Amino acid sequence: MGYIVLDRFGRPVNSIRVSVTERCNLNCFYCHREGEWHKHRSEMTPEEIRKILEIARSLDIRKVKFTGGEPLIREDMPEIIALAAPLMDRDVSLTTNGTMLSKYAEELKKNGLRRVNISLDTVDREKYTRITGKDELKNVIDGIYAARDAGLYPIKLNMVLLRGINDGDIEDMIRFSAESGTILQIIELEAPVEKEQTEFFQKYHVNPIFIEEHLEKIAEEIRYNELHRRKRFIFNIDGKKAEVEIVRPMHNSIFCKYCTRIRLTSDGKLKPCLLRNDNLVDILTPIRNGADDATLRSLFIEAIMRREPYWK
Ligand code: 5AD
Repeated sequence: MGYIVLDRFGRPVNSIRVSVTERCNLNCFYCHREGEWHKHRSEMTPEEIRKILEIARSLDIRKVKFTGGEPLIREDMPEIIALAAPLMDRDVSLTTNGTMLSKYAEELKKNGLRRVNISLDTVDREKYTRITGKDELKNVIDGIYAARDAGLYPIKLNMVLLRGINDGDIEDMIRFSAESGTILQIIELEAPVEKEQTEFFQKYHVNPIFIEEHLEKIAEEIRYNELHRRKRFIFNIDGKKAEVEIVRPMHNSIFCKYCTRIRLTSDGKLKPCLLRNDNLVDILTPIRNGADDATLRSLFIEAIMRREPYWK
């Protein structure tokens, strides 16, 4: 029987974010690599991922988001989706760079994927190449339209704000979001406290509060996204609607207070917090050693109990 587990701070956990690989075909200079750094760890098989999701489901975790690295670098991603969908009946989504999405969108949808988040920091081809190291903008845009045509909905665009790089591209991005029928998520550059004072972070970090104040003035309408506790700005551009959200994780205790997610690294470790690597719980090794469900469930609960708000 499924039951919800609360962590020590009273927060329910209802979703899991699964990294299926650390490999990526792009090389974005700011990437936090989902908090991971080693490239050559062994990846979980589709069956191992299914097993972990089955344990998650027994704790009433019924939403999954797949991520990487770049998840679509794995050719068995459609199979992974097909195995996850019956268990994760409240949501199955995928965060991708979109470069390979046009090839996979239909098959993924058919196998039970509901929606996608696509990383897109700019619609300027040269800037895109500068940020990601690859001239792939055209493929990403094709991927966005393929996802739309396949009925993956809603499509969210992840735009990481970078000072002096794309902080002047917001209007272009809003226009593109209206044109493509997608939701634009403007994301604050994120780093753990020990990296905050680095030259890199100081150079590129923009406090999104300034963007928010600007959007408040020019938006047609402002709604409130209850789930994520953030504002949603609505624009009308040539008769098409654009929706914009600002994701502000840094030093944001509200962000942590309403965090309901646990993570799984590509080498099978439960990860209580994106910004920490010192409290992981290995669940893959016990699975490979034939541990029973009760043991696996207790490892899961251990990881949930290690959750604590990063920003207090
Ligand atoms: N800060 C904020 N967001 C980031 N992403 C990658 N690195 C960072 C960072 N340092 C975003 C990407 C991707 C999502 C998984 O995380 O845009 O869409």
